[in-house]
Amino acid sequence: MAIRTRARILTNRLQSMFLSSSFLHDHATSFGYKEVGEEEKSKLVGNVFSSVAPNYDLMNDLMSVGLHRLWKDRLVSKLAPFPGMKHLDVAGGTGDIAFRVLESINGVKRRALQDGLEDNSEDETRVFVCDINPAMLSVGKKHAIERGLGEAQSLVWVEGDAEALTFDDDSMDGYTIAFGIRNVTHIERALAEAYRVLKRGGRFLCLELSHVEVPVFKQIYDLYSFSIIPAIGEFVAGDRDSYQYLVESIRRFPSQEKFAQMIADARFQKVEYENLIGGVVAIHSGVKL
Ligand SMILES: C[S@@+](CC[C@H](N)C(=O)[O-])C[C@H]1O[C@@H](n2cnc3c(N)ncnc32)[C@H](O)[C@@H]1O
Repeated sequence: MAIRTRARILTNRLQSMFLSSSFLHDHATSFGYKEVGEEEKSKLVGNVFSSVAPNYDLMNDLMSVGLHRLWKDRLVSKLAPFPGMKHLDVAGGTGDIAFRVLESINGVKRRALQDGLEDNSEDETRVFVCDINPAMLSVGKKHAIERGLGEAQSLVWVEGDAEALTFDDDSMDGYTIAFGIRNVTHIERALAEAYRVLKRGGRFLCLELSHVEVPVFKQIYDLYSFSIIPAIGEFVAGDRDSYQYLVESIRRFPSQEKFAQMIADARFQKVEYENLIGGVVAIHSGVKL
């Protein structure tokens, strides 16, 4: 790994330690609607995902009535993956995005072959799945085996923190984060890391549950999120609190406009977003130029 990158990682780690050390200042941050210390937040978020991991896929399907699959398809179609690409999916535990990226690349290769075009890409495709939680990564690795991708060299699993990535500067063509960024303690640091690891021309895409502003729809959506989702969590997974946190964390996440500004502040260009289902989810994107 380049010396520059090691130095950057060390600086980030020291910064994190310094900023989060409880004997110095454990700054308050939000864990859903609760105010907690920064260090406590990452532990609590870790507990949430260790707890939800075994039922994560089932709960995703139930809570979104299967729509999360279409939203993820949309994210990957906007990314437009290509053979030889180096892609990083952060907070990608279950592998949902990484599998789609690989399928899309295989589709491009198949079509090229059908059109009689040779595969001249010298670079090997690499899709990295990075997640802080080993329980979520285990679910993803299990899915990879089920899909016959257990031994695939193009798929690499990495345990790591979005705020202090262990990848080289300017090493990725694409960066995605789906339903992950609202869980990190310092969103700005995660965005700065995304910018650092992307090559010039590399694309940042974020899929996140967002803010609904259409009046009547907002009331129905609030009722659904605050009454039904925690109840499904309790009934299916025996864990109401984790799903209560997930719902509250959506409301604490910045609005689409504010988040777009944060992405621009992280030096990304051509920042834009697309609302899906009236803002239930939004896909933000930017380019490192
Ligand atoms: C709601 S899940 C999303 C999983 C997957 N991307 C999907 O779309 O289904 C959020 C993920 O973010 C991960 N996460 C939370 N904080 C993180 C951090 N600081 N760095 C990396 N991953 C993190 C959690 O472990 C969890 O796997």
